[in-house]
Amino acid sequence: MDQYGILKLLHEVKHPGKGDRDIVELGMVNDVSVNDKSVTVTLAFPGRKDPLANYLEGSVRAALYRHLPSGMNVNVKTVVKEKAVKPQELGTEEVEKIGHIIGIASGKGGVGKSTVAVNLAVALARMGYKVGLADADVYGPSVPTMTGTEDAAPEAVDEDGRSVILPIEKYGVKWMSIGYFARKGQALIWRGPMASSALKQLVLQVRWGELDFLLIDMPPGTGDIHISLVNDIPMEGAILVTTPQEVALADVEKAIDMFRNDKVDKKVFGIVENMSWFTPEEHPERRYYLFGKDGGLKLAGHFGIPLLGQIPIVQDIRESGDAGEPAALSSRPDALAFIELAGKLAGAV
Ligand SMILES: Nc1ncnc2c1ncn2[C@@H]1O[C@H](COP(=O)(O)OP(=O)(O)O)[C@@H](O)[C@H]1O
Ligand SMILES: [Mg+2]
Repeated sequence: MDQYGILKLLHEVKHPGKGDRDIVELGMVNDVSVNDKSVTVTLAFPGRKDPLANYLEGSVRAALYRHLPSGMNVNVKTVVKEKAVKPQELGTEEVEKIGHIIGIASGKGGVGKSTVAVNLAVALARMGYKVGLADADVYGPSVPTMTGTEDAAPEAVDEDGRSVILPIEKYGVKWMSIGYFARKGQALIWRGPMASSALKQLVLQVRWGELDFLLIDMPPGTGDIHISLVNDIPMEGAILVTTPQEVALADVEKAIDMFRNDKVDKKVFGIVENMSWFTPEEHPERRYYLFGKDGGLKLAGHFGIPLLGQIPIVQDIRESGDAGEPAALSSRPDALAFIELAGKLAGAV
């Protein structure tokens, strides 16, 4: 289990003195480090005498011991922070200047959600929109690789006594990724301005400036982390990425429900069917439906949601993603699919 997994578990620890909100949400988790033998969690308390400090330390231990393999040790340290920054008070002004905040979601991983998100961002920028993308996929942040910004280290600057993070600019898009703060071989990930409620900060504590679109590459799935993401960030709605086969569609159905249920009540702007067909280079007129045909179209019809686009399987889409130069930058035909998609999205919002 890595830091992300631990942070997820720590959501179980509620602060009874704060309306039972959890310690991660409250910004009390200052640091998490993990090695083979132990997990160390550092809790930050705003004052020296939180009467519940001992209780919370115990709860952290109990929650982690419940889930960790036996033999792992749990250490809990505490620090006192006079003014712990509370994520829920952060930066709503940072997102006030953003036209549309749109989540890019999928029921499961590997369907090309990040590929679609990154290329959509680049395509929108090519069309003249001001665009940002926040890569909130804690399970596999891929924006740094797909944009060739693996070595970028976002700067944090002080603004009116609070810390804001500057996004990385490339290809005319402002990028922010959880991956920029989780380097390989680095034991301590959650520190500084990213200490707590990392995902929320990833959007709300970033100086995006004026944007027409902020896309959020969400983690795949429909669990708690997603629901809190959807609730915490003033998202207008989402687009859903799927592949044509039935198994993926069952997951998308869950994802649609995640946005459309009464409590959340966000729009679903449309479905993007990815890997719709394969066309070999030497036979450009042929379409091979490797993963089934029109699954996304049928799903869209079933739920009354527009199908925003069908993206074929193109070797170049994968290669350009691996090379950090999104396909949508090029003038090849595969770029066109994303430009068209961007046009449809802009029309739908
Ligand atoms: N339309 C496509 N054509 C070719 N390869 C694709 C396409 N869409 C995605 N891929 C490749 O599939 C893999 C998974 O895509 P990714 O965007 O990382 O998925 P997710 O974010 O849903 O996990 C990547 O290697 C990516 O390059
Ligand atoms: Mg991804």
